[in-house]
Amino acid sequence: MTRVRKLHIKSYGCQMNVYDANRMADTLAPIGFVETGMADQADLIILNTCHIREKAAEKVYSELGRMRKIKESAALEERRVVVAVAGCVAQAEGEEIIRRAPVVDLVFGPQNYHRLPDLLNEASRAGKVVDTEFPLEDKFEHLAPPSRRAIQARGVSAFVTVQEGCDKFCTFCVVPYTRGAEISRPVARIVTEVERLADGGVREVTLIGQNVNAYHGEGPDGSPWTLGLLLHRLADVSGIARLRYTTSHPRDVDDALIAAHRDLPALMPQLHLPVQSGSDRILAAMNRRHTRADYLRAIGRFRAARADMAFSADFIVGFPGETEEDFRATLALLDEVGYAGAYSFKYSPRPGTPAAEMAEQVPEPIKGERLARLQAAIDIHQADFNAQCVGRKLDVLLERPGRHPGQLVGRSPYLQPVQVVAPAGLIGEITTVTVTGTGANSLFGTLGPAMPDHGSMMQTAVGV
Ligand code: SAH
Ligand code: SF4
Ligand code: F3S
Repeated sequence: MTRVRKLHIKSYGCQMNVYDANRMADTLAPIGFVETGMADQADLIILNTCHIREKAAEKVYSELGRMRKIKESAALEERRVVVAVAGCVAQAEGEEIIRRAPVVDLVFGPQNYHRLPDLLNEASRAGKVVDTEFPLEDKFEHLAPPSRRAIQARGVSAFVTVQEGCDKFCTFCVVPYTRGAEISRPVARIVTEVERLADGGVREVTLIGQNVNAYHGEGPDGSPWTLGLLLHRLADVSGIARLRYTTSHPRDVDDALIAAHRDLPALMPQLHLPVQSGSDRILAAMNRRHTRADYLRAIGRFRAARADMAFSADFIVGFPGETEEDFRATLALLDEVGYAGAYSFKYSPRPGTPAAEMAEQVPEPIKGERLARLQAAIDIHQADFNAQCVGRKLDVLLERPGRHPGQLVGRSPYLQPVQVVAPAGLIGEITTVTVTGTGANSLFGTLGPAMPDHGSMMQTAVGV
């Protein structure tokens, strides 16, 4: 019998790291690893890291300080703890991590985790192991569909990686270096995975990729399929009620994707479409390869196909050379699109990227000031969007118990969390909820259609 060992994985960064962490656990389960939430009880600790901004990367080293203490106390009890660093910092820094943090036994990149059992063996024999080679042969070996057993533990909403890597080379970004060249998983593997998820009770699937709408995986007929085609195929999988995809690039919006939004009721009317800046001068310096007008045209096409589309985006402030005028163009774009929400970041120079070498780096205080102004503007748009939902009936996929007894939390079509008093038996169901109010980041609602005369029958969730 295999000895039970405990595994603790901590993920940073994007959804793909969350997905990969699940797959690492799947890979290790057959050799006796069970997951624990407690790092100090684990025999194997994996930090699944993100390199996107300096802060994200530095977090890893402070966390490794904590791991050193855990490893030392375990050693006093003659228990060996293996510490591994995975993800994008692993890919970017490789053995440098072990030099800087000797507590680390194993470093492996985002496309190497299918080899984990062998790497662990090697680490126990050889001491330190680094594996950051991109696979040359079966590029999807790490993305084989998970077993049915592995799927049982998932909730009602799941991520599925359909493409990985990026060929865009925006001048600020590390992803093309840490995730490698753009590759798309074949349709058949994705369909198998989604069917298994549906059998396991999953109702909503979010297709993920660093550049998801550049998807061009091999279809059953041998020709490359677009994301639009793939979405059509997945909408036919029985049990799957909702489809989403993220993250998209404005350049890769094609007719098939627009048609999917027009034709597929299961495809949710919400899209995360990063733009980074509203200034054409900055967009060019970023090598985004689209203009402000191109971006607005793409937004218009989605809205023409589906009038209630809600948009979110990513923005960077303080990119090298950004003037007050450029920044105002970003604020103006925000108003022009009317986003339902957005993420904004201070530009962070990343080693090895062209923008890090550019003259005219923007001083930190100006970045801070612009970020505060942008975030305030985003908050107003988000609050407006949420306020417009009050009084409306929205279909909500109920996902899990809420913070208060008797309460469930679900998602609206526009991805807003919705808190509602409802029986636990409704988890996994899509129900009509009348929105009665808004909180800082969520909506409150009551089950069923609006009943002004009987409003007290189902109380609004309060106090969250
Ligand atoms: N297409 C990718 C983008 C990943 S990075 C995806 O799958 O989401 C997410 C966001 O981080 C980017 O859209 C950008 O806004 C931000 N970002 C990337 N590099 C950055 C940097 N050097 N400094 C600040 N923000 C950055
Ligand atoms: Fe990075 Fe640009 Fe690729 Fe997105 S499109 S992952 S921002 S290089
Ligand atoms: Fe971070 Fe890598 Fe994702 S750098 S954002 S974990 S692709």
